Amino acid sequence: MAIDPKRLAGEEAVKLVEEGMLVGLGTGSTAYWTIMDIGRRVKEGLKITAVPTSIRSEELALSLGIPLVPLDGIPPGGIDLTIDGADEADGDLNLIKGGGGALLREKIIAAHSKRLVIVADASKAVKTLGKFPLPVEIVPFGFKLTMGRLEALGGHPELRLSEGDEPYVTDNGNYIADCRFEIIKDAAALETTLNLVPGVVENGLFVGMAERLIVGREDGAISVRTCRSF
Ligand code: A5P
Repeated sequence: MAIDPKRLAGEEAVKLVEEGMLVGLGTGSTAYWTIMDIGRRVKEGLKITAVPTSIRSEELALSLGIPLVPLDGIPPGGIDLTIDGADEADGDLNLIKGGGGALLREKIIAAHSKRLVIVADASKAVKTLGKFPLPVEIVPFGFKLTMGRLEALGGHPELRLSEGDEPYVTDNGNYIADCRFEIIKDAAALETTLNLVPGVVENGLFVGMAERLIVGREDGAISVRTCRSF
């Protein structure tokens, strides 16, 4: 029977979830398996609380009976463990995220997590970030001007569209410009530069945030890469 590498990685990470934890729930087709498996353990009696990184993940968690808590009641840095997917991860575990459009909430949750664990299939592990278009969340007001600035930075931005050719709108009411930098040599510098552009809310570079990357493979193997700085 074919093994789904995303499921393998997503479920492997759930082994890190312990009784009493406050858990950040990621977004996407890999984090889906994590949330499903957390739901299974909650049904079996595991007592945890959780915060979702998107409306999609919130709905899934609620349907599984995972107890959610409002973000505003959490002390800064108070999330024990967040498990999320990624679009690319390099050797230092710097990431591109936001292919599913949830980058802003994902980054806020990641920033307040003691541990960020990334789950992925092998295609996401790359030598250098940048082949996957970098999602940049921008406010609708003046978005063409903002995209002009992203173009000047070499990003070749494309406005993300939803079905019907309308702009894709994030959970926060913003647009996304997908930027093709091709090769990102200095992710930390680019992350800062992009966020200084007026109209940019956040970008999908997650630098120095992930503690480990769990990769599922089609042959059923699982590999774990940890970040040296943790
Ligand atoms: C959601 O906005 C993203 O950051 C996802 O975590 C990322 O796109 C990975 O998604 P998949 O697990 O579906 O590949």
